[in-house]
Amino acid sequence: QMALIFTLLQDICCYIGYMKVEKRYVQNAGWQSEAVDCPLECDCPTAYPTAMYCHSRNLQHIPYVPSHIKYVYLQRNQITGIQDGVFDNATNLVWMILSHNQLSSEKISDSVFVKLGSLDRLYLDNNELTHVPHNLPRSLTDLRLSYNKITNISKLFESMPNLTILQLQGNVIEEVKGGLMGLESLMILDMSKNKLRKIPDSFPKELQQLYLEHNNIKRVPAGFLTMYPNLQFIRLSHNSLTDEGLPTSVFNTSTLVELDLSFNKLEKIPLVSRNLENLYLHANKIKEFSLSSFCDTIDGKNFSKLKVLRLDANKISIRDIPVEAAYCLRLVSSINV
Ligand SMILES: *[C@@H]1O[C@H](CO)[C@@H](O)[C@H](O)[C@H]1NC(C)=O
Ligand SMILES: *[C@@H]1O[C@H](CO)[C@@H](O)[C@H](O)[C@H]1NC(C)=O
Ligand SMILES: *[C@@H]1O[C@H](CO)[C@@H](O)[C@H](O)[C@H]1NC(C)=O
Ligand SMILES: *[C@@H]1O[C@H](CO)[C@@H](O)[C@H](O)[C@H]1NC(C)=O
Ligand SMILES: *[C@@H]1O[C@H](CO)[C@@H](O)[C@H](O)[C@H]1NC(C)=O
Repeated sequence: QMALIFTLLQDICCYIGYMKVEKRYVQNAGWQSEAVDCPLECDCPTAYPTAMYCHSRNLQHIPYVPSHIKYVYLQRNQITGIQDGVFDNATNLVWMILSHNQLSSEKISDSVFVKLGSLDRLYLDNNELTHVPHNLPRSLTDLRLSYNKITNISKLFESMPNLTILQLQGNVIEEVKGGLMGLESLMILDMSKNKLRKIPDSFPKELQQLYLEHNNIKRVPAGFLTMYPNLQFIRLSHNSLTDEGLPTSVFNTSTLVELDLSFNKLEKIPLVSRNLENLYLHANKIKEFSLSSFCDTIDGKNFSKLKVLRLDANKISIRDIPVEAAYCLRLVSSINV
């Protein structure tokens, strides 16, 4: 039986090998060009006629992209630039994956993306970019620029009305000056692992998830959350937040579901809304357990919706938690101290 399986595998292997050879032959013979139009360095499987696979094969340039291709995979190569005109015929492109290359901003000409009017996803993460490419398609909904060397985002994102995800983590951005205005549909913004010293002044109103961990942020401006009523998840761990930097009611908004303030310098538990479900406060300098931070009054019907509360690696112990906490924090299964 083993021998049979082995023969079967061998057959499949050689059959696939034969198909490949045949495909190349057809291409070189120059007929049926529409069906097989594919650069030699890539694979365009007949089962996925709109996809072109060129990943992980030491490419140094972007191969030409035929006009019928919608999805192009170019990740994990050694591509350093995007030459002018290479996408001129590729006007149907929907996804372009260029992650894990060596793209530098100087080697991307200004008009390469201009004709890509249907591009939905553009992944340029893990490259050497020092600024956001110019003239990005207005059609983008998902733009990944994480783990580059971007220092500065100015008004470059102004005209992407459908962008919902923007990943900028792992860059060296110090400040955001109005650079995010005009992203009317943005829901997820990741700017963790940058060099921000303050929370950017303005975000799009639709924002739901804001990731700012591993920066050097010292304060949250008063009224910050009332300006962004759709915010549900905020991560501010590994910053330099102190009690003075948190205005009294800044997190007392009923829409917030998750708040991560771990690895900061807080000495008190900030006041949070009863609707909050996950609160991370571990690795701070908290000295007292204030039940009033969760429930201003304690009665049978009004209690906190908190499910996860982490307070470990602070300066309190289990004895600092009053017995009444059980009435207010009745959905918390265990408090880590
Ligand atoms: C674009 O298509 C035209 C016509 O088929 C062809 O002559 C030209 O070489 C193509 N350009 C690129 C960059 O692929
Ligand atoms: C944004 O999305 C809408 C709805 O899908 C679409 O009609 C519109 O053309 C898109 N805008 C751009 C600039 O692509
Ligand atoms: C930020 O980038 C823009 C556009 O790339 C450039 O004009 C500006 O000089 C840069 N500002 C700083 C402070 O580097
Ligand atoms: C927190 O918000 C709730 C609901 O908006 C409000 O009733 C309560 O007074 C606020 N608490 C403080 C201390 O501001
Ligand atoms: C619960 O608290 C809210 C405001 O915090 C108050 O309006 C409401 O009357 C309270 N409900 C009960 C049953 O005490």
